[in-house]
Amino acid sequence: MKKKLILFLIAGAALISGCENQATETPDDPGGDCTPQFPDMNVTYNNYVKGILDKYCISCHHAGNSAGPGDFGSYNGAKAYTTGNVFFARVIQDGADMPQGNAPLPKAVRDSLDVWIKNCAPLN
Ligand code: HEC
Repeated sequence: MKKKLILFLIAGAALISGCENQATETPDDPGGDCTPQFPDMNVTYNNYVKGILDKYCISCHHAGNSAGPGDFGSYNGAKAYTTGNVFFARVIQDGADMPQGNAPLPKAVRDSLDVWIKNCAPLN
């Protein structure tokens, strides 16, 4: 009986964590001196960006020993690349060369990533 209960609890925990697909990190640098440029547009890491990075980028940009630099599998890891021009140059502009070895992301996706960054890369 006890064994069954424990198995049930493990299965339940796996189910719950399987559905939990949102980053619950605390931003390392909340806000800073950045002012959102498109305050009416709600593009956040959790509602959009995480899905894009998971799909197209983390195969090469993940924690530990990966082909590309950084860890795009976490909010703070990805956010670290949103200051300066590097993300725009490599990912967002026309003719961007990321994801490496593939066509640039669709224009609508690149536009959304641009909004996210210009809105100070919010988590939620
Ligand atoms: C097939 C592997 C691969 C994929 C997929 C990939 N990258 Fe990269 N990326 C690399 C490698 C390797 C580098 C480092 C060499 C270079 O700068 O070209 C890099 C560099 C970068 C840089 C510059 C980092 C720096 O410090 O200068 C950014 C930004 C970047 N990638 C973003 C992305 C994004 C966003 C995606 C998904 C849309 C992506 N990459 C997908 C392999 C990849």
